Amino acid sequence: MRRMKNFGPFSPRIHGILHGADYNPDQWLDRPDILEQDIQLMHQSGMHVMSIGIFSWAKLEPAEGQYDFLWLDMILDRLYAEGISVILATPSAALPAWMSQAYPEVLRMDENRVRHLHGGRQNHCFTSPVYREKVRTIDTLLAQRYGRHPAVIAWHVSNEFEGYGCHCPLCQEAFRSFLKARYHDDLEALNHAWWTSFWSHTYRDWSEIESPSPIGEHEMHGLTLDWHRFVSAQTLDFLREECRALRAVALHLPLTTNFHDFVQLERGLDYWKLAEELDVISWDDYPYWHADKHSDAEEAARRAFIHDMNRSFKQGKPFLLMESSPSATNWQPVAKLRRPGMHALASIQAVAHGADTVQYFQWRKSLGGSEKFHGAVVDHNCDDPVHVADTRVFREVTALGRDLDRLLDIVGTSVAPEVAIIYDWENAWILADTQGPRQEGLDYFDTCVRHYKAFWDRGVAVGVINADQDLSRYKLVIAPMLYMVRPGFGAKIEAYVQAGGHFVTTYWSGIADETDLCFTTGRPGPLRRVLGIWSEEIDVLYDSDIHHVGGYEARLFCDLIHTESAETVLTYDDDFYAGRPALTCNRYGAGEAWYIAFRSYDTFLSDFYDARIRAYGIEQALDVDLPEGVTATIRADEEHCFCFLQNFTDRKQSLRLKAPMQDLLTGKQVQTLEMDPYSYHILS
Ligand code: GLA
Ligand code: ZN
Repeated sequence: MRRMKNFGPFSPRIHGILHGADYNPDQWLDRPDILEQDIQLMHQSGMHVMSIGIFSWAKLEPAEGQYDFLWLDMILDRLYAEGISVILATPSAALPAWMSQAYPEVLRMDENRVRHLHGGRQNHCFTSPVYREKVRTIDTLLAQRYGRHPAVIAWHVSNEFEGYGCHCPLCQEAFRSFLKARYHDDLEALNHAWWTSFWSHTYRDWSEIESPSPIGEHEMHGLTLDWHRFVSAQTLDFLREECRALRAVALHLPLTTNFHDFVQLERGLDYWKLAEELDVISWDDYPYWHADKHSDAEEAARRAFIHDMNRSFKQGKPFLLMESSPSATNWQPVAKLRRPGMHALASIQAVAHGADTVQYFQWRKSLGGSEKFHGAVVDHNCDDPVHVADTRVFREVTALGRDLDRLLDIVGTSVAPEVAIIYDWENAWILADTQGPRQEGLDYFDTCVRHYKAFWDRGVAVGVINADQDLSRYKLVIAPMLYMVRPGFGAKIEAYVQAGGHFVTTYWSGIADETDLCFTTGRPGPLRRVLGIWSEEIDVLYDSDIHHVGGYEARLFCDLIHTESAETVLTYDDDFYAGRPALTCNRYGAGEAWYIAFRSYDTFLSDFYDARIRAYGIEQALDVDLPEGVTATIRADEEHCFCFLQNFTDRKQSLRLKAPMQDLLTGKQVQTLEMDPYSYHILS
């Protein structure tokens, strides 16, 4: 088995997996008894860490230039005295009302060019010099006052940067500067890249360029792509300014920002770019369990995919599960209570994929405000001391904490996958924007997860990367629907396969370049030679249409290809293209490159990848056939090895190991495992 060197803890002051929550004592400053109760309950539940100050600006700076840090001094001192660590946030994700009133430029303008009123959060302009200065000032003050506070172990910069962007005049100017730099001051190069001769959209001056808008330009995909790039770059620039302010004073503290849980993935920021600035990755995981439209196992695979992506951002370095709900949310369409066991299982899943913390939003439910019904460790009943900790959620959290405390040596261990799936943000943006043969149902993210699940089902570790990453460490690289192929990627894949790598891609790949100009050398463009095929045209189907390929169903996309050097493995059974290739394999150098020309929702991917796993000798976490809905993952370093078995079904499952292993939580040797619904075992 491949093992990685231990990455060490993200902060030298921690030992073991941290268990904690977002804590908002600033909502309860008039209730010292509640603050006291918090401390007691934190001890009772065995929590080690609290994230504080995420939305505290109005308390920290109640009026411009007037600061109040006394309450925070008091809280940090108390937590430190009680042995509880703090991840201290900068408050830039929600600005105080006085600022919006005094400086309207700090408020965001939307794509319809409407300036938003004060309210909500993530509501600021990320270009505004006034806003940046205010953020710099408060961050510097926090760093000066708390950078050396013994309770503080890390910075939590802002909160969930997301990709909506601001369209105010300041941002328009910043966008133009970004474009000038990107196109080396050459407006003709931009005109060509965006193909502006179409519909007479040629620009004669940089000042004519405006960000995309539903009431203006929004179908010029070179523009929309560059706008997405700009929003990511400008957000990174904003993040950097915060990081600089903190590091200038408190360089020793690791720095993170909590990434979103990808619900708006296709519009979102390119987190690969932001990741470079951070010392440690963290993200907020809000699964949709017990849903009516997907199974818990499907949701678990989707979550596992995102965990693996977060671990991959820093080449395997463990990440923090910064937020998760210990019970329900208040924003999912129907937020069923988590069934017994599910909370602990979902938390262990994060650890199994590389998390070194399990943290919640939130410690205590607020009495008012938009999230008063969002799950929390402690419910509303603070004045009922008999029952405040006597709840199912509190008991499950406490029990999970005891399991986490047994995993001391897991800190810093990681996963060394032999398989990588490419989920590329720029590709996601353009797939969402471009107007091709099917306007809906492209489902890039879900398609990647469907490929991923074949590995999840078999307990095979996967890295989730973008197209810019090094591929040499993988035995198998899969790039579903890689519509955009950026310069260099074709040659990289050729070299990878030539040297013995295995590559799989699908229909709707190799169509256009990094500005969405179509390739002129025949689809799939730069991937044509390594795949040994030529795609002449692509047929798309209605949702209800079912075609067939060698006993499997073909749905939605049927690429009509010709083999060049590739061998045909399966052919279409239906329609005017019956008999034409649907699955091909091209031996190229010492490796091979596969082209899956159709989409399928049945067992095709599972069977296909099962054969690849065997053929390429790809390792599974356990050498057993896992029951449906059960997965296994390994975290290891040169000394330790932890194997997590997770049952994401509401049924009991049993399996027999090839040889006895030690159950870390009970200390017993086990060979036959009886798994309860929604349960886990940790073996070593
Ligand atoms: C996000 C935010 C939190 C909270 C939760 C609710 O992750 O970061 O402040 O709003 O959602 O699920
Ligand atoms: Zn702006």
